[in-house]
Amino acid sequence: MCGIVGYIGPRDAYAVLINGLKRLEYRGYDSAGIALVNSKTRIYKCRGKVSDLEKYITGNDVSGNIGMGHTRWATHGEPNDINAHPHKSFHGKFVLIHNGIIENYARLKETLSETGIKFQSETDSEVLVNLIEHIYEQGNTSAEIAVRLALSKVIGAYGLVIACIDEPDKLIAARKGSPLVIGVGNNEYFLASDATPIIEYTKSVIYLNDDDVAIISKEGLVLKTLKNDPQTPRIHQLDLGIGEIDKGGYKHFMLKEIFEQPRSILDTFRGRVGADFNELHLGGLYNVIDRLVKARRIIIIGCGTSWHAGLVGEYLFEDLARISVEVEYASEFRYRHPIIEPDDVVIAISQSGETADTLAAVKLAKECGALVLGICNVVGSSIPRETDAGVYTHAGPEIGVASTKAFTAQVTVLAMMAILIGRKNNTLTDVQYRSYIKSLTEVPGKIEQILAQDDKYKNIASLYKLANNFLYLGRGYLFPVALEGALKLKEISYIHAEGYPAAEMKHGPIALIDHKMPVVVLATKDSSYEKIISNIQEVKARNGIVIAVVNEGETTIKNMADHVLEIPVTDNIFSPLLAVIPLQLVSYHIAVMRGCNVDQPRNLAKSVTVE
Ligand code: F6R
Repeated sequence: MCGIVGYIGPRDAYAVLINGLKRLEYRGYDSAGIALVNSKTRIYKCRGKVSDLEKYITGNDVSGNIGMGHTRWATHGEPNDINAHPHKSFHGKFVLIHNGIIENYARLKETLSETGIKFQSETDSEVLVNLIEHIYEQGNTSAEIAVRLALSKVIGAYGLVIACIDEPDKLIAARKGSPLVIGVGNNEYFLASDATPIIEYTKSVIYLNDDDVAIISKEGLVLKTLKNDPQTPRIHQLDLGIGEIDKGGYKHFMLKEIFEQPRSILDTFRGRVGADFNELHLGGLYNVIDRLVKARRIIIIGCGTSWHAGLVGEYLFEDLARISVEVEYASEFRYRHPIIEPDDVVIAISQSGETADTLAAVKLAKECGALVLGICNVVGSSIPRETDAGVYTHAGPEIGVASTKAFTAQVTVLAMMAILIGRKNNTLTDVQYRSYIKSLTEVPGKIEQILAQDDKYKNIASLYKLANNFLYLGRGYLFPVALEGALKLKEISYIHAEGYPAAEMKHGPIALIDHKMPVVVLATKDSSYEKIISNIQEVKARNGIVIAVVNEGETTIKNMADHVLEIPVTDNIFSPLLAVIPLQLVSYHIAVMRGCNVDQPRNLAKSVTVE
């Protein structure tokens, strides 16, 4: 949930840390702080964004080559200067930054308080730093041993960096449940919650595993487990350019990411689509394809936008491969004692690969013996490392908190999987197989055509930016898009919006419709086209405002709706990939016109690594 960054080496640590925090700010942005570590350790922290921290620090001593920084998304304790990280222990020996939740913090706090320790903040992280100091002082031991002993008493999740003033040339990092990456440079090391702050310095990284502890000094890195078993660090090479993590001339990351979709979907295809559309290669599934083809049932799990992509997956697998599918919120699935059989296949969808509920659901499904696959975007993140196999979406870093290009990449992967399995289990003929592959590869070009109409979306935004409510309706493949459209609008513009299957409107939501209610109806041509026309008439009969997403050249709905947004014709099964684009752009423009912080909406964070 929070972003953490650390540095040790010959550079000016402050510059590395502050730049790193800017890159990680999407993970949390209610307060931020930095510690420069040496014999005179200095901590600067305040409520607000990283830019507020920068202003706050101006004029202070930021010299030093070792340090740590944190950008927070509050869990325990409101966002304020005191609860901001880094946290110092009571006797001032340790400084810590932490991402995660210490679940048994209350009990630990009570025990530590009985020894006379006074706490400044309401955070669980301050309890942890004090537990470490307490063990260090009681046991008269080294910082590393104190960290390992303390962490073995902790229940919960952490990605952390800690420094001890008695050993000021060292940083200790540890991970359990919250991501941590170490960048390896020339006599220097970078630590971060993900690779984005590291990429401008080095492409060599080590992903820490759960229960790993890294002891890092300028001379080198020692990796071991909590139980003191030595580990051999595995260095991976990042396949990521600095251009991919900048705004590239766009006003917001979200806008850049919406406009990137033709390219990001091409990246999802790369190396996977045969030149004459006669083949799909999903290398990540190579070893499990037989089990997948024979699956009795597919259970798709995810949260938020990834769950919406999963709903599209349900239609795809059922239509193209005739396999029964259930789509579950990971948070519900993991706690309701689900029935999972060994011949079930569980597919976890997650942009970040770090969502706590999805990760926990993956672990549960594995324990039940199911084949567990991942569809993730962040390479090397926790879910792909936990699953048996999977397919990366390769959409590139998604920094805007509202998910856009990750959704279309996830749906693209699901479509490729469904087409592949459908052919392998003979649900699809060879002719259908090739025809679907070809049609899917035409999607990026069609998205270009939709993006070229951005002025129309701006116009709709300017007309309805002051609405208090929106309704989104869709049927079949476009029902999940209605949910996604509503989610995009509410999360970045704070307008209340609901997505519904169009036919359900009559069972309740129709009561909401009046002349002030914009209703976005997804009405491309498919088998339920006539029915959706009836739904539009029902809205118009109650003076609702209809904004219809239709196929180019459509005339019937044009005569009924208040506005139509045209998208190119495609196979119905790929219509979510096109229909979602106008909804993303209308939401974006409304949020900008309402003066909202599009890339960092209130109360949200990019990756939800806590329950
Ligand atoms: C919505 C959004 C969230 C995420 C959800 C899952 O725009 O971004 O709803 O989709 O938190 O995140 P991942 O996909 O990283 O598991």
